[in-house]
This record gives sequence, C-alpha cells and structure tokens, in this order.
Amino acid sequence: MVDTNKLIKIFDTTLRDGEQTPGVSLTPEDKLKIAIQLDKLGVDTIEAGFPITSRGEADAVKAIAEAGLKSEICGLARAEPKDIETALKCNVDLVHVFIATSDIHMEHKLKMGRDEVIKKAAEMVKLVKERGVPVEFSAEDACRSDPDFLIKVFQEVSKAGADRIDVADTVGIMNPTTMFDLVTKVKQAVKEPISMHCHNDFGLATANSLAGMLAGAERIHVAINGLGERAGNAALEEVVMSVQNLYQKETNINTRLIYETSNLVSRLTGINPQPNKAIIGDNAFGHESGIHVHGIINMPITYEPLEPETVGRKRWIQAGKHAGTHGVKAQLEELGYEASNQQVKEILGRVKDLGDKGKRLTDMDLDSIARSILGQESEERVLELIDISVMTGIKSTPTASVKISMNGETHVAAETGVGPVDSAIKAIQKISDKIAHIRLKDFRIEAISGGTDALGEVIIKVEDNEGNIATARSSDGDIVIASTEAMIDGINKILTKKKISSPKEQLANP
Ligand code: KIV
Ligand code: ZN
Repeated sequence: MVDTNKLIKIFDTTLRDGEQTPGVSLTPEDKLKIAIQLDKLGVDTIEAGFPITSRGEADAVKAIAEAGLKSEICGLARAEPKDIETALKCNVDLVHVFIATSDIHMEHKLKMGRDEVIKKAAEMVKLVKERGVPVEFSAEDACRSDPDFLIKVFQEVSKAGADRIDVADTVGIMNPTTMFDLVTKVKQAVKEPISMHCHNDFGLATANSLAGMLAGAERIHVAINGLGERAGNAALEEVVMSVQNLYQKETNINTRLIYETSNLVSRLTGINPQPNKAIIGDNAFGHESGIHVHGIINMPITYEPLEPETVGRKRWIQAGKHAGTHGVKAQLEELGYEASNQQVKEILGRVKDLGDKGKRLTDMDLDSIARSILGQESEERVLELIDISVMTGIKSTPTASVKISMNGETHVAAETGVGPVDSAIKAIQKISDKIAHIRLKDFRIEAISGGTDALGEVIIKVEDNEGNIATARSSDGDIVIASTEAMIDGINKILTKKKISSPKEQLANP
C-alpha cells in the first residue's frame, strides 16, 4: 500500500519536452507506443504533446487521450485561446497552460508588461476551467523571474482556479539551495500542489527537483533518459530511484520496467544515452577492476548501491587490464567454460596484455582467448542457420526468408523490413522469439578490404529482456549472410548465458 503522505507524483514529459530534444521527431504511432509503455510503467501523468504544433501532434495527443490508459493525459498550451481550444479538442484530462514570467522573456519574447502577463495567465486558466477541465499552470522561466512578481502570478492563477502550480527552471540555472528557498516561498504563498520542472543545463536537474521536493513540491516533471530541450529534463530513472532510495518516499512507478522503457525510448527516438548515464547507461551495472569484481562476487552491495534487477537490469563484468582472477573466472563460467586456476591465470595474462595495448575487450574476445587456451567450444548451439534468401529492389519491399534449426527442429520464417539485413534479422527473431526475447542493441558493418568484393565484417551486440548481453562478429563477402550469422551467434551466446546463469543466480544475489 502506498503511503499517500510520502507519495511523489511523476509527471512524464518524454512525449512533449522530451520530443523537443534536438533531432527527435516521433510519429503518432511511436508516441502511442511510448504512452502505452509509460502507462505500464506507472507514471501518474503523461504529457502527450503540444497539440497546436501540428496536425499529426494533435492527432497523436487525441489518440493517446482516447487509448483508455490509467495515467492522466495532458496536453500543453501557451496562454492563448487557440492553443487551449486545440488541446481541449484532443479530449485530454488536464491542460498544462504556461506563460513566461521573467523580465527577460516578457521583454524580448512576449513583448508584454507584467500586468498584461498576469491578466492573460488568469484569463486562460479560467477559460480551461469553464470547460470543466483541470489545469496545471507553469510559470515559464520562473527561476529567473522577480520572486515577488512570480508569487503574484501564482496567486492570481490560483484565484482563477488553477489546480496545480509548476515552478519551471527553464534554463536550468538553479542549484539545490536556491531551489529549496524559492519553493519554500511559493509553498507559503499558494495552497495548490506544487510541481517541479527542471532542466539540466548545469547537470543539476535531478538535484534541483529533489530540493524542490524537500521544500514541499509533490509532483516532479521528468523525461525518460533525461531527454528534453538542450541538455534535457530531469531523468525519470534518476528522480524515481533517488526519491525511493535516498529519501524513503514512494512513487507509483514499477521500477522493474525502467530499463525496458528506456530501451524503447532510445530505439524510437534514435538517442542512445551515454554509457556512464546513471541507472540506464550501459555501464551503470558493469564492473571491471579486480578489486570491485571480487567484492561484488562476494557481496554485491560492496560496490552496488542498487540491485540491478530493481530497474530490470543485470550486472556484468568487463574483461580488461584492471581485471582479476575472480572476475575472469566468473565471466568464463558465464560463457560456458570450465577452467583450472592455472588456465584462468593464463587467460587473465592475455587479457591484461591486450588491455595494455589499449584494446577494449568484449565477451567475444574473451571467448576466443578461452577457446585457444582451453581448446573447448563454449556454447552449445541451439540455433543453426540452414538457409536464407532475400529479395530487394526499388519497387519491391525488402523481404527475407530464413530456414533455421532450433533445438534440432527446422523452422521457417519470412519478414519484411527497411532493407535486406533488417528483414533477415526480423525473420530470425520471429523464430528465436519462441524461446527468448532477444533484441539487437548495436550493429556495425565494416569493410575489411576494398572493392565491390570486399569482405564485410558485422559486429553486433544483443540483449535479452533480462539484461543478458552478448557481442558477436561475423565476416562474409555478402553482408546479409555476415549479419545473419552474427545474429545467430549472438542469440546462441545469450541462450548459453541464460542456461548457465539460472542455477548461478545465487552467486549474483547471495
Ligand atoms: O521548460 C519550460 O519552461 C517548459 C514549460 C512549457 C513548462 O517546458
Ligand atoms: Zn521544459
């Protein structure tokens, strides 16, 4: 049972401010897919978009508002009747009305005086309320506004019927101390619940949101992966995990779905988070140094402040020049090898030599070192490619059909895609999905030699829905064949890891 006194509400703006990330543009279908996932994740509010922006945007917001989701669906509107009418036509549950209150914005953008801004803000809040729809009012650039004027604006919109008041740090210039003081003042002046909307220009969006929460804000605006204008908004994953773990407050978020949601948003927006990004970055639960790996093998809390599983992830070990015997041994076991202490030492020596030469080792490299020293094959191959054929052309849809042996049984599948490689990978997944949900995380093609008969090398990274990751590589004169073989190799590696890790779960979580 959630303790409502401790509950912090999550207002997700991935589909609005997040979509304002430079270079991001989502189709209505993609927006709906993300909204469905955010609803599953448990966000209290989904800011579905800014309906006045375009016909497609309004259609997407309407489709989301009418999709029967549990989350409250919100549309953004400037303090302008046409924006508000367009948002209301989308059947949203809440209109988020904003107007700038800083002298900088009023003078250089709005060309309006203070009295005019107050009047407009109050009138537009009333307009929405007369239609029976709740309003969250944001003072844009609140944090660079004259604090007395800001409070006056908030008091007037409160009288006009605003249901919530949002303090927007539009250009991310606050620090936790100044934010705490400002929100304390706002809290004393208005009775409505307060929201935080923080941008990350100085990397303080999460810290400032939490400072606002400590001063009494009860709702935080966030975006998945910290997407948003310029350096982005406060990241949902950081805010939620901090609220719950560092402040012992609660949210309605099912944290185990955070990573899956982050992956969906990365895939559909084309923006991959930096590897060292907190919670969802590739390295957030990766360990390399021998000392750390030894620690986490004995007791994960030595070097992990959070259990990776709580956000839907798995810890992993990187072989490299900082590695130690415990880590290499654990990694070899995960790859399906049995090695004596002497063999582990020998493998570790090779790993360190390569690390000293600046090579970033993948599990694939460790696999080939182990293979050469132990003379064993690691994985038992569950999938084998029997045949593949592809059809492509300017006027026809690229199609691939594959014949694969899986656990000794022959399966055939065909799929279409944006090109022959995409269709081939999808056709393989259609078959492998019957036993495991494995997706491509990374795909690279490199030409090994010049000319039209060049050998193409395909390097892929795949991940399953439990967070198991594997890399695989294959080369061929035909890049469709190279891609197909690399994908099948990657799937076999994940299946080996899954098989081995189940009884070893105790080692990972003693
Ligand atoms: O950053 C901002 O000020 C905004 C407003 C629309 C709330 O995104
Ligand atoms: Zn914003």
